[in-house]
Amino acid sequence: MRIIESIPEMQQASESWRCAGKQIALVPTMGYLHEGHLELMRAVRPRCDVLVISIFVNPTQFGPGEDFERYPRDLDRDIRLATETGVDIAFIPHVDEMYSEGYQTFVNVTGVTTPLCGRSRPAFFRGVTTVVTKLFHIVKPHRAIFGEKDFQQLVTIRRMAQDLNMDIQIIGHPIVREPDGLAMSSRNAYLTPEQRRKSTRLHRSLKEAEVLVRKGEKNGEAILKKVREVLAEGDDVRIDYVQLCDPTTLKEVDRISGPTLLAMAVHVGIARLIDNSVLIPSP
Ligand code: PAF
Repeated sequence: MRIIESIPEMQQASESWRCAGKQIALVPTMGYLHEGHLELMRAVRPRCDVLVISIFVNPTQFGPGEDFERYPRDLDRDIRLATETGVDIAFIPHVDEMYSEGYQTFVNVTGVTTPLCGRSRPAFFRGVTTVVTKLFHIVKPHRAIFGEKDFQQLVTIRRMAQDLNMDIQIIGHPIVREPDGLAMSSRNAYLTPEQRRKSTRLHRSLKEAEVLVRKGEKNGEAILKKVREVLAEGDDVRIDYVQLCDPTTLKEVDRISGPTLLAMAVHVGIARLIDNSVLIPSP
């Protein structure tokens, strides 16, 4: 695996692959790779000639007081895992080159970024769409893949790619879970063993909601009540939001009349965990 740190070097390499007719795929990451990231790499590997991952903890998507400084980092391990997974290029830019002095340009998607995580993390999506646009311009991929755990992020990136006529295929990939159901996330590293046990409630609550909907429940409030009961707030568990919405527009719904996104963000200790499921009503 080749490591590229400089933006012009990455752009030149991508340009030469494109001229040679090669298909480029990008897996954007903030590093501290886990099985969820590796699954994205494996999923897109057969759909490209050159597989690029980016490793960049993007400061513009963290708000004041959020975990930018303590976000887990282990570059040596990331490089080993990416190499073993068959990645061709790890693009690892420096923050000073990505956001050089005088930087003042941002990409902002309105609408789908407003509800859910947009309420408690107002800077987040602007930072994500900005850095993803920059990565697209630097790596010039034909396709890029994102996990569905960050469902709102995926909807936002799809919206941006469509609205700005980006000639890039955006691929979503199902959530990868630990054996006990916890969605894989670099932030799981923040959990103590006790908090880790409590975190399985997120997945359990989604499963309970799926059962209710399968049995014919259509009333949104009844489903959310059950979910909140399973999540059971306590000393170190606090719900940020639990919401039902349309999976494309992310507008809130109060009845299940078609596929419906059940999305949640829950603080467990210092970790803010997100999870979701698309509920399909029985015919
Ligand atoms: O999902 C992430 O890890 C990040 O938000 C992304 C897409 C790499 C942008 O920094």
